[in-house]
Amino acid sequence: MASHAFSADTAPRHVAIVMDGNGRWAKRRLLPRVAGHRQGVESLRRCIRAAAARGVQVLTVFAFSSENWRRPAEEVSGLMDLLANALSREVPTLQEAGVRLHFVGERNGLSERVRAGLAQAEKATEGGVRLVLNVCFNYGGRWDMAQAAARVAASGQPVTEQAIASALALAHVPDPDLLIRTGGEQRLSNFLLWQAAYSELFFSDHLWPDFDEAALDEALAAYARRERRFGQTSAQVSAQGAGAADAGRA
Ligand code: IPE
Ligand code: IPE
Ligand code: MG
Repeated sequence: MASHAFSADTAPRHVAIVMDGNGRWAKRRLLPRVAGHRQGVESLRRCIRAAAARGVQVLTVFAFSSENWRRPAEEVSGLMDLLANALSREVPTLQEAGVRLHFVGERNGLSERVRAGLAQAEKATEGGVRLVLNVCFNYGGRWDMAQAAARVAASGQPVTEQAIASALALAHVPDPDLLIRTGGEQRLSNFLLWQAAYSELFFSDHLWPDFDEAALDEALAAYARRERRFGQTSAQVSAQGAGAADAGRA
């Protein structure tokens, strides 16, 4: 049994992560940036395992943004290759671990090889029930809102919050409870603009390749100390908490 202090009772149900800092990790070692991304994949493997062990049910990670096409061509193609290779290599392990993969983002801009890999990985893991892993790739929050709005408009339904929420790319999961960004920057960079409306934010100075179990536990501990009010007062939230505890005892 793992020795960490988190269980399914206290863990956030849905954790989202902006996996930032791979380039700086590589630079500090005088390595090419893509070496940092390669180490980033290792860090993601570790994080998936750790999150599942702590009772997290949904993990959503930002792997490539709509804006990352602006990077040097060599880095972009390195990231595409890394994704394609990771897909073919990791799927059996994910299957075994009960992870269900979803890719979230605009697929049209991706190569045929990458698109086929994404579809195969999703199909191969569709029986996973332990952890839902959403990999946001060629994703942007503005893209997501625009594509959702276009779908609602095309369907002829009235444009309501509910209709938009159901058309968003993450409609299959609840909104993130906790949003972590590694690498020390404190911004969203176009990640989950709609879904993070009430997420607790946690900024870690660890570069993504260095984000280990202890760093995750630090974020989960900070989350456990937050009071989520959703617009209400603290007194209202406490009264509801007491009510829920009473209901639990009844
Ligand atoms: C995040 O790491 C990974 C991607 C954006 C693909 P970066 O590559 O942004 O790393 P830094 O921020 O330059 O250190
Ligand atoms: C956000 O990181 C995107 C991913 C982690 C995939 P960036 O490194 O691209 O963000 P900015 O450009 O510093 O805002
Ligand atoms: Mg960055």
